[in-house]
Amino acid sequence: MSGHGTSISMSSHRSKGLNGTAEVPGDKSISHRSLILGALSVGETVITGLLEGQDVLDTAKAMQAMGAEVVRDDDGTWRVHGVGVGGFAEPDQVIDCGNSGTGVRLIMGAMATSPIAATFTGDASLNKRPMARVTDPLGLFGAQAVGRSGGRLPMTIVGAHDPLPVRYTVPVPSAQVKSAVLLAGLNAPGQTVVIEREATRDHTERMLAGFGAEITTEDTDEGRVITLTGQPELTPQTIAVPRDLSSAAFPVCAALITEGSDVLVPNIGLNPTRAGLFTTLREMGADLNYENEREEGGEPVADLRARFSPDMKGIEVPPERAASMIDEYPVLSVVAAFAEGQTVMRGVKELRVKESDRIEAMATGLRANGVEVEDGPDWWIVHGRGQGNVPGGATCASHLDHRIAMSFLVMGLATQSPVSVDDGGPIATSFPVFEPLMAALGADIRRG
Ligand code: S3P
Repeated sequence: MSGHGTSISMSSHRSKGLNGTAEVPGDKSISHRSLILGALSVGETVITGLLEGQDVLDTAKAMQAMGAEVVRDDDGTWRVHGVGVGGFAEPDQVIDCGNSGTGVRLIMGAMATSPIAATFTGDASLNKRPMARVTDPLGLFGAQAVGRSGGRLPMTIVGAHDPLPVRYTVPVPSAQVKSAVLLAGLNAPGQTVVIEREATRDHTERMLAGFGAEITTEDTDEGRVITLTGQPELTPQTIAVPRDLSSAAFPVCAALITEGSDVLVPNIGLNPTRAGLFTTLREMGADLNYENEREEGGEPVADLRARFSPDMKGIEVPPERAASMIDEYPVLSVVAAFAEGQTVMRGVKELRVKESDRIEAMATGLRANGVEVEDGPDWWIVHGRGQGNVPGGATCASHLDHRIAMSFLVMGLATQSPVSVDDGGPIATSFPVFEPLMAALGADIRRG
């Protein structure tokens, strides 16, 4: 099921070399934050390069429901007229965040210190995911949450009337939790402090500073200590959303495993809190180069050049790198199947609570396609078969998870027999142009 009724079954077939340039769409994390911070500013924020995937469109609708004006010009520029910090109106309908954990968790944080109530729901995947990780710290501000058992959506948040600032150590490595607390801290008086033991993506901190909030980050023995001064007036911004490194991962990995490939993926942000996959691939022996390295908007950016890499070796991925590549383990496990030897991935418990249980979903599909996988609660090992030796031939369940669907479709480009997925519909949540982009490179991916 795609979450919208009909499933879109898809298959991927052994392809000749992938060649050309892959212009991937805007970054999902930064797109959500652009809309939310724009909605919390006074005046007009102008956004170009916004990811027009379903997850982000759902966040745009939610911001409208809370009183912000969000419009799209014909040329694809988005304009957000914000209501200011503390200015959200109470939505008169349930907010449906679709498939998006980032959307729902960040919006819950952003409204939790305003005197309004809002009820949130999502698709079958989102309604299974844990929300207590966000509602626990939001409770410290004075917000109340009532949801289904196990802290699941649908859930109503009653925002705090007199919010208190909070000092909170995030118990799991999660940028969504960190961001929810920071966004809630915006409308609390005084300083809100968030401590994270492991560094996770820092887009919220960078963007809050860009919108004029007073925010500092200090590396200490406790971890990263982020201090935000509440009740700022956020100044609207002009934002050029960089291309999504997590989407770039798919054409890059496809090129590495498909014989005769040479693909350029231009303008990819290499923020160190995000770029762990590329470090890992290079350690495995991938022919992956950063060309035209530069800085844009304070972030390192490069064009990625990926070529067929028949001699990759399995490695042990350092667990401390996990947060910087958490969304990329599914496609890494596909590359690992084509490498020689074992790829060992530890410290990845968070993979079990993503859009699907990603260890379970990938392990099951890899095994069905002839790849040996071992797994435990927070680890998994893929036994590589080497280039040309991965059988394929099976249909994999995507479990309403875009990255599972895309990973198996990448895999089928280089297996002996085609690989199918039961539903490619969820791909539209993050990478709506995946099919034409891959086809233009020469990938044989079909519907039905
Ligand atoms: C995201 C954080 C990560 C990531 C997700 C996007 C964000 O989730 O998996 O795709 O934009 O903050 P967690 O915070 O649950 O690790």
